[in-house]
Amino acid sequence: MKLNACLKSLVIGAFALALPMTALAAPAPIVIKFSHVVAVNTPKGQAAEYFKKLAEERTKGAVKVEVYPNSQLYKDKEEMEALQMGSVQMLAPSLAKFGPLGLKEFEVFDLPFIFDNYAELHKVTQGPVGAKLLKRLETKGLMGLAYWDNGFKVMSANKALRNVADFKGQKMRIQSSKVLDSQMRSVGAIPQVMAFSEVYQALQTGVVDGTENPPSNLYTQKMHEVQKYVTMSNHGYLGYAVLVNKKFWMGLPANIRAALESSMKDATVFANGVAKKDNDDAMAAVKKAGKSQIITLTPQERAAWKKAMDKTHKDNMGRIGADVVNEVYKVTGYKP
Ligand code: LMR
Repeated sequence: MKLNACLKSLVIGAFALALPMTALAAPAPIVIKFSHVVAVNTPKGQAAEYFKKLAEERTKGAVKVEVYPNSQLYKDKEEMEALQMGSVQMLAPSLAKFGPLGLKEFEVFDLPFIFDNYAELHKVTQGPVGAKLLKRLETKGLMGLAYWDNGFKVMSANKALRNVADFKGQKMRIQSSKVLDSQMRSVGAIPQVMAFSEVYQALQTGVVDGTENPPSNLYTQKMHEVQKYVTMSNHGYLGYAVLVNKKFWMGLPANIRAALESSMKDATVFANGVAKKDNDDAMAAVKKAGKSQIITLTPQERAAWKKAMDKTHKDNMGRIGADVVNEVYKVTGYKP
């Protein structure tokens, strides 16, 4: 009995000694939960993983980045709320999902045919207009750290979409952007807002007839397996802004924030470096899979889409803000 009691107090004593030592040796890391809705093998998915690697290395483990892909943690709308409430610390939502936050000016990126290529897009995202837009996030308690590229959208459906008239009555899933709503209506389609995580099933069961997305999303979500036709239209752009909760970010120790900023800078170079190739590869894989028929538009057919969708620009000038739209026109040289 006596020996047991003695052993017991020794063990307790050892624990009591060990506890503060452990606490000193390894303070709990700062956790950054990074939630997103796409697959890991997409430009955004890979860039998030790369950011995690750099951030953990450069802070020597003082920061732990937990990446939650594929809407595992939150769906589109919920993730924005979670960021504002501090339940997650980092997101990279599509620029087409900022309207519900009250930041309608980001919908300028959704205007059909506004960018002919990545070089034109970068003049905006890497220039003063892009910086000005990110600054507006602060009015919502958020901060925009970077723009990450995805790519130019294809249009898919169970009907061949070649001529403008082919859109008539087609139910098309869109992201939560009023500009995308107008774009679909301009060609006679019926737009339906839906979370990304629900699109595959909605296409499979016929809740919607078609959708638009860059090939990287179409392929990794297997949408091409439930769509008879894919039109390579490149009619619009889809990309991201990396967002953090401002209070969280500004509350970080300065040296940690600097290490994270440098990691974000390099992850952005990485993201924008892989986006085009990932989309080209995904398109090649969709073709190879042979599940859907690929439609290539003639220049005349594509011009007819542009002409019909051009209305979207005028109709949304007031919503986005004519100043923002005109600034983008100026840098990209957009002509109706
Ligand atoms: C979509 O909802 O179609 C996209 O925004 C998904 C994404 O994040 O690329």
